Amino acid sequence: MPRQHTYDLVIAANRLPVDRVVGPDGSSEWHRSPGGLVTAMESVMRGREGAWVGWAGEAGEAPAPFAEAGMWLHPVPLSEDELQTYYEGFSNDTLWPIYHDVIVPAHFHREWWQDYQRVNERFAEAVCEVAAPGARVWIHDYQLQLVPALVRRLRPDLRIGWFNHIPFPPVELFAQLPWRSQIIEGLLGADYLGFQRSADAANFVRAARQLDGRSTRGETVTTTHPDGRERVVRASSVPISIDYAGLEQLARSPEVLARAEQIRTSLGDPEIVMLGVDRLDYTKGIRHRLKAYEELLSEGAFCPPEVTFVQVATPSRERVEAYKRLRTEVETTVGRINGTYGTLGSPAVHYLHQSYPREEMAALFQVADVMLVTPLRDGMNLVAKEYVTCRHDLGGALVLSEFTGAWHELHQSFVCNPHDIEGLKQTMLRAIETDPKDRRRLMRASRRRVSEHDVQRWADRFLDNLASAPERPTPKRA
Ligand code: ADP
Ligand code: G6P
Repeated sequence: MPRQHTYDLVIAANRLPVDRVVGPDGSSEWHRSPGGLVTAMESVMRGREGAWVGWAGEAGEAPAPFAEAGMWLHPVPLSEDELQTYYEGFSNDTLWPIYHDVIVPAHFHREWWQDYQRVNERFAEAVCEVAAPGARVWIHDYQLQLVPALVRRLRPDLRIGWFNHIPFPPVELFAQLPWRSQIIEGLLGADYLGFQRSADAANFVRAARQLDGRSTRGETVTTTHPDGRERVVRASSVPISIDYAGLEQLARSPEVLARAEQIRTSLGDPEIVMLGVDRLDYTKGIRHRLKAYEELLSEGAFCPPEVTFVQVATPSRERVEAYKRLRTEVETTVGRINGTYGTLGSPAVHYLHQSYPREEMAALFQVADVMLVTPLRDGMNLVAKEYVTCRHDLGGALVLSEFTGAWHELHQSFVCNPHDIEGLKQTMLRAIETDPKDRRRLMRASRRRVSEHDVQRWADRFLDNLASAPERPTPKRA
């Protein structure tokens, strides 16, 4: 693609869709970045021309901008210090826990906040550099909540939208943030704010009213410019999704079908394969599902080799203390379960702390008789949608936590409360024992929902809402 200097559509996210990984010999390769944001936005941007502003995944100088898959990728540098303060600190040890029900305590440090502001300014400047006059700017997630207002200050000609991939917390939790007013002000720089659930949008509107004295009405918040003019910002829900058609096609390919058979054989051809696929994150309820599984084994509800459990856990935020602790706990538990219940050649848990290509994930989903999606809190959880999409055979059963955004769309699954270990165990057994005819009916309904609400529809809805958001500032009424 020939380099253009500016674009009509600009994406800003903490990460670029690809990470630069430097090998021990100094050679560098580009790998797909982790997480649901990249999965979704990569599909959205396929076939649309635009620029993507983000970090390239390692500390130090940023690589030069480059073209990739029809997009112009514009790397933003982060120093080693900023990695610790802005990314690991403020984004993932302050905001992430507050926005996920304080499952672990949030830490507040003024230096982290300073760097969060500085990095957000850098992102805003980079956005303005690549945005054409009147362009649409689509900012993503909790790492960049100040960028909307910063971009507006620099470039009032731009149409600015922000989408939150994670939950927005209830006002009682958000109130803990010493910098809550600055965050609200940062977000109100947008024309349109999109959230996963209507409860998230309502939480934001309530926070703006109760904590920051803004005037609100339904889905809108009124903000006043320094010149006295008023601007109305809309906040509503647009639940994210996946590329249903693309993934379905991949899951039907002979290579993926053959690989699924191969995986089943290499697992020892068990009667029941349970599967978990997550970033190794404390929000995902991995410990809870392991506990339920261990208790079922100890009660003799089933045992290997008839049953096995595959847990794929992508490495994530490995230097943050809460993530280190989680990894130790998960790996200790897996070791204990295997030591107690495994037999030679038949471990009770197959634990894989690695990332895999899409083809391998699609094959794994087809092998899973029971998919365990048990987060304690999750904005959406795309894995749940990917699983049902890959089950074109209508086989398998989805056990889904009621604390995910996905549950609000996939009611036709085996709902669970992961805090209730006894209930979770019963749900896992029910998923195994339910008449296959009934399971097929549930699977068909879930697949229909995802096919009708795919990622392109999500992006179109977001961009339509951005386009129709209240127009330019109106003069303040006397
Ligand atoms: P989050 O965004 O919190 O990580 P999601 O479930 O919304 O959670 O999205 C996770 C994405 O990462 C999905 O597209 C999933 O297929 C992918 N993924 C998860 N684990 C792995 C892995 N080990 N290898 C490759 N992709 C993975
Ligand atoms: C979630 C967040 C994303 C983030 C991803 C991976 O999906 O919503 O913003 O990029 O997790 O986390 P990481 O910290 O590795 O970028």
